[in-house]
Amino acid sequence: MEISNTIRYIGVNDHKTDLFEGQYQIKSGISYNSYLILDDKTAVMDTVDARFSHEWLDALQRELGGRKPDYLIIQHMEPDHSGSIARFLSAYPDATIVSNEKAFAMMQKFFGVPKDTDKTLTVGEGDTLTLGQHTLTFVLAPMVHWPEVMVTYDALDKVLFSADGFGKFGAPDVDEPWKDEARRYYIGIVGKYGPQVQALLKKASGLDIETICPLHGPVLHAPLEQYLNLYQTWSSYQPEEEGVLIAYTSVYGNTQAAVRKLAEKLRGLNCPRVELRDLARTDSDQVVADAFRFSKLVLATTTYNAGLFPYMRRFVEYLTERNFQNRTVGLIENGSWAPRTNKLIHEAFAGSKNITWLEDELTINAAMTEENQQTLQKMAEELCQDYIAQDSNTADKQDMTALFKIGYGLYVVTCRDGERDNGLIVNTVTQVTDTPNRIAVTINKENYSHHVIKQTGKMNINCLSTEAPFAVFEKFGFMSGRNVDKFEGCEPLRSDNGLVFLPRYI
Ligand code: FEO
Repeated sequence: MEISNTIRYIGVNDHKTDLFEGQYQIKSGISYNSYLILDDKTAVMDTVDARFSHEWLDALQRELGGRKPDYLIIQHMEPDHSGSIARFLSAYPDATIVSNEKAFAMMQKFFGVPKDTDKTLTVGEGDTLTLGQHTLTFVLAPMVHWPEVMVTYDALDKVLFSADGFGKFGAPDVDEPWKDEARRYYIGIVGKYGPQVQALLKKASGLDIETICPLHGPVLHAPLEQYLNLYQTWSSYQPEEEGVLIAYTSVYGNTQAAVRKLAEKLRGLNCPRVELRDLARTDSDQVVADAFRFSKLVLATTTYNAGLFPYMRRFVEYLTERNFQNRTVGLIENGSWAPRTNKLIHEAFAGSKNITWLEDELTINAAMTEENQQTLQKMAEELCQDYIAQDSNTADKQDMTALFKIGYGLYVVTCRDGERDNGLIVNTVTQVTDTPNRIAVTINKENYSHHVIKQTGKMNINCLSTEAPFAVFEKFGFMSGRNVDKFEGCEPLRSDNGLVFLPRYI
């Protein structure tokens, strides 16, 4: 397969393995990708799992068309990609292996490949290798997903060879959408390493990329925004979608009855999305990916051997070890004589950042009571509070308690110049009088928003919560609406005056 005139795909599809890395279901298989660059010199990008060496070497030989490979570039030493190094070296002993210091140390341990010989070339951050017209630049990407990982940029064809990044479960010969299996792959494999992925995205933002060649799944072509935006969301641990995931276990059906009732109440309150998952009957990595996908999570389980029911214990471990954060979480516990799972789950998430616990938590003693039903109603209302406020039909537009939220804080003031929405950060909002209600906002006259508000006489004030991430300040504090569309790509929510308000962090 041609990636460009001079870059060929030589990967293989694996439909034999049942569990990837010994734990992830791969019903649509998986691919181990490898690429060949044909120039004055030829370079092979990574190898494949050892079980597919011959198939890969056949493809390589075919695409070489009688030439020999000059370089083998190793970006990642995990055996699903490095497993055929030894067979490659037997077939092409004159090739030079190009990799970084950490990878060569691992290569020696895995395959006895000696370091620092005339057949190895050690590269580091920003180093380049010229093949002729192609010049490859190496960028270190530690912990995306192992410490030795690096990615490679080809400026000629604007290709980023992204190692494990941007991969997905499912071999490319199976036609399925990218997002769901890429999310399950990302959260499962790299989810723990959000800051390291953020660092790589920052480096990649300086490159002109038209094609991403990962080590698993399909090659991605421009426009790449959807992929880059999802990686930005996932790696910053932000929810991808508004909605409530209810993950539960149930022994005799009483906990299941409670979560079904909660789901019914949530749907009645127009919750945008409600998903129920029985942890004993759904692949845990799928539910973990769902938990990272949605903004709110309810955990309902039974006390078992004085601890968490096993499927819930495992699920909570999966979440916390992947740095689950920035979510609202509600709890339901069930126990016939000593329910204690709510307390245990609180303890399990003690090290997790920005978990907002629902005020009301439910304890069921064996089966639900009328009082339990009322608590479920309160939980549903609290979970839907934002959605009720954002819906023009259900919002309390005379809710003057908003005035009590004005403090010494930071605010996003939004306005509209007739064609485009704009917003800026201010720190001076004061309630001046109660009757009539008057609020003073101070905006620098140099700012474009000042000009727009003066012209239109309209603005909205969004009181930012302490959970607002730095990205909000970057967007609304460091750029001018005169030359940047700060709501580009958003589907904004609007109040009755036609101006936008922020969906989160207010
Ligand atoms: Fe696909 Fe980290 O190996």
